Amino acid sequence: MEPSRSNSLVESLARLTQSAGIVGTESSSCETHGAFIASRLRDGQITGCPECSRERQAVQEAQERAEQQRQAIAARLERLLGQALIPPRFKTKTFDNYRAQTDKQQIALSACRSYADRFAENLEAGRCLMLLGKVGNGKTHLAAAVAGAVIDQYRCNAMYTTVSRVCQQVKASYSKESTQSEREALDIFRAPDLLILDEVGASYGTDFERMVMFEVINARYEDVKPTIVISNLGAGALVEALGDRTVDRLREGGGVVVVFDWDSARREVANG
Ligand SMILES: Nc1ncnc2c1ncn2[C@@H]1O[C@H](COP(=O)(O)OP(=O)(O)O)[C@@H](O)[C@H]1O
Ligand SMILES: [Mg+2]
Ligand SMILES: [Zn+2]
Repeated sequence: MEPSRSNSLVESLARLTQSAGIVGTESSSCETHGAFIASRLRDGQITGCPECSRERQAVQEAQERAEQQRQAIAARLERLLGQALIPPRFKTKTFDNYRAQTDKQQIALSACRSYADRFAENLEAGRCLMLLGKVGNGKTHLAAAVAGAVIDQYRCNAMYTTVSRVCQQVKASYSKESTQSEREALDIFRAPDLLILDEVGASYGTDFERMVMFEVINARYEDVKPTIVISNLGAGALVEALGDRTVDRLREGGGVVVVFDWDSARREVANG
């Protein structure tokens, strides 16, 4: 190396150490890592064990990675909950805040809870759940609780919708301005791991409604994906509203039926 160049290197090193405030070195020792060369700084401080400092940094980096991971998991959960489109009124509904005071309520609660607890199995089998019966008995409440549990425990994507919303989506696809085909509109409801179809048979079913319900339920049946159907109708009236073929698809693979037929929670409160 040319002397001039080596000189300039020494000078710049000296400038560096000076700007870092190092005024000298001395031997030191760490209880864990043994001997090391410590630097004496201008303000009188002496640097610590470099190995300890590396370890501290590694711990800090691991903590930062864990924090980033935690944030990513929380963001994913947030996204899944957002995509589930659960109506605001039902977002806070859980199994724990469902009051099961009667035997029938207990049966309904435990059927829905165990459907959620065994969701891995139900997803695999495409097993459907039908919540049928009187208005105000907590069918939508328990379905929202299932969606929340499935998202939380299995990180599956669940989606809540109503029959009229599905029909609107499909109808909108027929408009000249629509950028969506009928198939694409139907695929919205085919895609989720779990679909909750509320208000089935609420409006006395038109042929169009029956056709759309068959398309959605049959597509999910073909994909072996579970659907929760909620209706204020009894089993017989549901068959009339949806048609045999569609109800057969829901029953296939051990579909679970839960009947809600007691006086509504609101009335019970009113009666004291
Ligand atoms: N057993 C219950 N425990 C707690 N809240 C209930 C119960 N049954 C019904 N509710 C509440 O009453 C309201 C109506 O219930 P909802 O789920 O809409 O009934 P449904 O879908 O059967 O018509 C909701 O706010 C729901 O949380
Ligand atoms: Mg409801
Ligand atoms: Zn050390």
